[in-house]
Amino acid sequence: CGIIGYSGHRVAVPLIMEGLRRLEYRGYDSAGVAYIMDDRLHVVRAPGKLIELDTKLASMNVGGAVSGIGHTRWATHGLPNEKNAHPHRDAAGHLALAHNGIVENFQTLRCMLQGEGASFVSDTDTESLAHLLAKGLQEHAGDMLKALAWTLNQVDGSFALAIVRLEEPGVIYGARRHSPLVLGVGEGENFIASDIPAFLPYTRNVVFLDSDEIVRIDANSWGVWEAATLAPVHKTPQRISWDVQAAQKGGYKHFMLKEIFEQPRVVADCLAGRLDATHQRVCLEELAGMPVPKRLHVLACGTSYHAGLWGMHLFEDWARIPVSVEIASEFRYRNVLLDEDDAVLIISQSGETADSLACLQLVKSMGVPVIGLCNVVGSSIARESDRVVYTQAGPEISVASTKAMCSQLTLLTLMALHWGQEKGTLREADRIACIEALRQLPALLDDHLPAMREKARELSRLYADARSFLFLGRGHCCPLALEGALKLKEISYIHAEGYAAGEMKHGPIALIDPHFPTFALALDDALFPKVKSNLQEVQARNGEIIALTNEGMDLQVEHPWIIPRVWGPLGAFMALPALQLFAYETADYLGKDVDQPRNLAKSVTVE
Ligand code: G6P
Repeated sequence: CGIIGYSGHRVAVPLIMEGLRRLEYRGYDSAGVAYIMDDRLHVVRAPGKLIELDTKLASMNVGGAVSGIGHTRWATHGLPNEKNAHPHRDAAGHLALAHNGIVENFQTLRCMLQGEGASFVSDTDTESLAHLLAKGLQEHAGDMLKALAWTLNQVDGSFALAIVRLEEPGVIYGARRHSPLVLGVGEGENFIASDIPAFLPYTRNVVFLDSDEIVRIDANSWGVWEAATLAPVHKTPQRISWDVQAAQKGGYKHFMLKEIFEQPRVVADCLAGRLDATHQRVCLEELAGMPVPKRLHVLACGTSYHAGLWGMHLFEDWARIPVSVEIASEFRYRNVLLDEDDAVLIISQSGETADSLACLQLVKSMGVPVIGLCNVVGSSIARESDRVVYTQAGPEISVASTKAMCSQLTLLTLMALHWGQEKGTLREADRIACIEALRQLPALLDDHLPAMREKARELSRLYADARSFLFLGRGHCCPLALEGALKLKEISYIHAEGYAAGEMKHGPIALIDPHFPTFALALDDALFPKVKSNLQEVQARNGEIIALTNEGMDLQVEHPWIIPRVWGPLGAFMALPALQLFAYETADYLGKDVDQPRNLAKSVTVE
């Protein structure tokens, strides 16, 4: 989502709309604004793209408002319709609030507030914040800073907030934890926003807010406080030289690179509210009450298909469920045999891929339950599935999928843990070790991504003139080899083949020569010795090898690429960005159109 708050000498609503337009890349399924005019708090919202809100506002007189907030939504809880669009109000209609992030304990808050008489009008996690803040204001004699600190103290999860309040026209409050929020310092005007492009035409002086800080702006002043103690925080504005386009990419050269670097955040968001800290168990409410499938059929296309192949290993290992994984365009034309106690899992980032949707309809007509694993809330596959599990990757703009796959791997891990828990087939020690490793992933990824990029850059310079690449892996690393090859060919146009390492000797080995490099996955797992002997077969034909591996492994290749060891199959979370970065650096070096490769589309809605 994208949020913005403004206070200053200009007419607020058109300025907020313009800011939202520059934030639209963050999500665009509904939008809204809130402002104070003629002693009343006005909230105007509309489902769909910003143009819908524009049309609604066109017939209104908004000229008198000099402060307000706005929101462009990427749904995480509740369908993208008008009642779920932000800003959300408290019951008295005295405050309105726009939120980006996920309130993990919203159900607990909602129950508590409803018990005290609050009535909710939306399905969002955000509305609980509006009611809670109103309660905080009552308990703190209308002191907004104290009320806000009190509110945030009760919230688990991530948020960036912009708040407008009838009692303080001309003042906007903001706060953040994990989700981004920046302050723009202008002359006779100030801004808060999810991202710099929102206010870049008006000011280049920016204050980066940290987690658990509260900010207050009016036209001529601004202040920042620690949320926990309300101690003032001294901040100095920095001058930004980016243009709007660069700022939308967060300073990265391409969306793809930005999205690769968002993966630590994506893992954290996917885990939010789904791990029970005290009992070290997974709580996947989306699957609650559903019998564990006897057999699971996973259907998907492209990168989502590779995620499914990876998930198969976990479902089999931990939940002892027989799994088949199939390409949707093949499955739909077979005379398939399904049982009523089977289940089908359809993985689709967009939720709109035609072949995957056709499979869903076919399977439903056979009376078999369907679970959708989707990123886009309210998409066709999400709506038509019997159960839907949402990944929380946020909008993915680059055509080549990166962070969406990372989010799919996270949810597949949680689903396999969930069913393993239900069936009692997963050893407790493994479950605990896995959950612990999952928790540590975001920080580990954050620490290692910059160095991985450097290594990818160095290797890409050595091999950018290769005509072909072979990607090899075994076991749970085999799907990663397929994904590594797909990423390289789709954005750099270098031919690449992903292969099961053990199958190489049945054909591709004929191609190996000094000009046909191999990219191998040789992580520290039970199959390492097998991969190692396959690589020796490559070396015997003078093939050069890049190998993703772990510290201390006994492997002699031209380019060992050491990545951190992670528990069990979760090593994939480290290998995946390495493969993505290698493809990215190669394509960028070759001057290709990284974000929009030729002939490809983000969402393939035709057969
Ligand atoms: C297209 C995209 C891929 C994506 C595939 C499946 O080919 O370019 O990045 O993996 O569709 O899309 P879905 O939205 O169903 O995951």
